[in-house]
Amino acid sequence: MKLLVTGGAGFIGSNFIHYWLNHHPKDKITNFDKLTYAGNLDNLKNIEQNKNHSFIQGDVCNPLEVRSALKNIDSIVHFAAETHVDRSLYSQGVFAKTNVVGTNVLLEEAAKNKIRFHHVSTDEVFGSLPKYSKERFNEETPYNPRNPYSQSKAQSDYLVKLYHKKHNLPITISNCSNNYGPYQYPEKLLPLAITNLLREKKVPIYGDGLYFRDWLYVEDHCRAIEVILEKGTIGDSYCIGGLDKEVNNLELIFKVLEILGKDHSWYEHVKDRSNHDRRYSVDWSKMKNLGWEPEHDLDIYLEKTVEWYVNNCEWWRKLIK
Ligand SMILES: NC(=O)c1ccc[n+]([C@@H]2O[C@H](COP(=O)([O-])OP(=O)(O)OC[C@H]3O[C@@H](n4cnc5c(N)ncnc54)[C@H](O)[C@@H]3O)[C@@H](O)[C@H]2O)c1
Repeated sequence: MKLLVTGGAGFIGSNFIHYWLNHHPKDKITNFDKLTYAGNLDNLKNIEQNKNHSFIQGDVCNPLEVRSALKNIDSIVHFAAETHVDRSLYSQGVFAKTNVVGTNVLLEEAAKNKIRFHHVSTDEVFGSLPKYSKERFNEETPYNPRNPYSQSKAQSDYLVKLYHKKHNLPITISNCSNNYGPYQYPEKLLPLAITNLLREKKVPIYGDGLYFRDWLYVEDHCRAIEVILEKGTIGDSYCIGGLDKEVNNLELIFKVLEILGKDHSWYEHVKDRSNHDRRYSVDWSKMKNLGWEPEHDLDIYLEKTVEWYVNNCEWWRKLIK
């Protein structure tokens, strides 16, 4: 297979490239990434010599760059996006441009040669669930995005579905819950918390901290995408989530404090993010029907993730002013 991975220098994209080359060593991957603040070639250092991985610095919003990158490609896995909700609250334009216009450009170019297109999206497109309920998102849940990031991702999902209906483009979509693991830019909750604590700084917790997330280890997400590429039904969406271990942000940070041997004086409540989604929870039974389920336990892999940041200080110190 000749894969084009967009956003392959980011958190999940780089983990996906490592995963794919480990499991499909004969396949060829072209990594197409603009290298925004979130893109980092250090994430791919240990495969620099791998002849089956090549890197193109390019922008998904640029049709000429995309067209040229798509020569001889069988399948696209589209990760490239602006991804930080906080940033979307004060710079909406770049989210609309990259996530909506960029996805449209990619679809337009893919449609010319009917290239298999997998779109990596988020469960945040479904909006927010009540704090203490048993409700879960599934593939039939209506979209109700509540911030500029999730709105732009929802619009990109609609475009992907449109290209399937109107242009017969062979697409699939995945809507995944929050990921954790190595190589995550230290602005998101977990790497921010870990890197703050390693610098003897407190962890900021938005509002009351009772925001529930359905955490998934990044490798489980990569394997889910592999399963969808191999067995998914063209035109379908798939919800991906964690191992029935929904935790709120406070509980998550308590776990990190415990791993690092710190007491509860090491976090502080700060002013909440506006329109903060209360709870996400994913029903992944459709993925189970394809033979996938999450394998990595939160407690074990959270500890391994903290260890990774402890052992890779030189990776994250460069990214922090
Ligand atoms: N992080 C999560 O928990 C999570 C959960 C579900 C879905 N997702 C989705 O997965 C994808 C990857 O998320 P992530 O957390 O790895 O993001 P990230 O912010 O770590 O990486 C994004 C990558 O996209 C690249 N990029 C940005 N604009 C680009 C452009 N115009 N052209 C080419 N490349 C560009 C960046 O340089 C970076 O390498 C996103 O589409 C996101 O919506 C993320």
